[in-house]
Amino acid sequence: MVNVDTPSSLGRPRGNPRVLYPLLDWDREVLVLGIESTAHTFGVGVASTKPPYILSSVRDTYRPEKGGIHPREAAGHHARVAPEVLAEALRVAGISMNDVDAVAVALGPGLGPCLRVGATIARGLAAYYGKPLVPVNHAIAHIEVGRLYTGLQDPVILYVSGGNTMVAAFAKKRYRVFGETLDVALGNLLDTFARDAGLAPPYIVEGLHVVDKCAEEATEPADLPYVVKGMDVSFSGLLTAALRAWQHARSKAEKASICLGLREIAYGAAVEVAERGLAHTKKNAVLLTGGVAASPILREKIGIMASYHSANAGWPPPPIAGDNGAMIAWVGLLNYLAEITINIDESFVRQRWRPDEVEVPWR
Ligand code: FE2
Repeated sequence: MVNVDTPSSLGRPRGNPRVLYPLLDWDREVLVLGIESTAHTFGVGVASTKPPYILSSVRDTYRPEKGGIHPREAAGHHARVAPEVLAEALRVAGISMNDVDAVAVALGPGLGPCLRVGATIARGLAAYYGKPLVPVNHAIAHIEVGRLYTGLQDPVILYVSGGNTMVAAFAKKRYRVFGETLDVALGNLLDTFARDAGLAPPYIVEGLHVVDKCAEEATEPADLPYVVKGMDVSFSGLLTAALRAWQHARSKAEKASICLGLREIAYGAAVEVAERGLAHTKKNAVLLTGGVAASPILREKIGIMASYHSANAGWPPPPIAGDNGAMIAWVGLLNYLAEITINIDESFVRQRWRPDEVEVPWR
């Protein structure tokens, strides 16, 4: 199903690019098209140097009927929906390909077959319309679009999604990764548990993840393993233990307490690492982003933690926090203004492209 977001559905970004990116020339009129295809979402967005900055964000997410994401099936989905998503993103922005100054694409990190669909389309558009091609790191896109929407100048970032769990902060021209998951990502933990326990699909009911929903009826959390190693988290033991407990659970109340235990431990571990990142860097804000940032429960925990440190907390609206083309367009715009482009014959996809490998010239 195609999701269409417009400047009015997304709300006005709180950040002022002239303040957030003082090294770039905001007097120029530039439009960049961005393509996202790193995992289960194919998205296209248009970004502008002029308000409202994000002119459109259109996406279509692959939802397998059974099991998790199969990379090749997701890639097939992306190739099928691409023409419609692209046409809709241009239509909503009120522009044509000829108006675009550059084509940006997320070259990684992500699933190889999925990344190649977006890269192939971006290369084709750049070559056919004679536009520069701009490489974008997907994790940095989550961070920068989060800064744009929240206006947080220099936050510690907790990026949590189906494929990533990461605490990062800016230091010496790069987003440094302070902590990450050693195995399963937070979103993947919740989804895999929900699926194997028979709670999903659908994964989201009335705006809540089904694990959060199931936890609502619990009085006490089940006792499950909590693993934080240094600044890293590990969720695979938690997943195994929760599923084993679920098999032996007899009552609804017991099942609810497993959901609550799983949720509290998983969110607690992520918040703990973010808190240590905040204490260590002495920054004054926390940015929560990625698909799991849609959870009101995780947002509340981050808000409470930040307030202990007299820090601000913020998160972009859910369609911007999860994977989308607008965030790729936004960092494509920053890169383009900083004169970062790539030759088509060098535009390989990079499945394990870490954000700390990328020099950030606009801060
Ligand atoms: Fe993502």
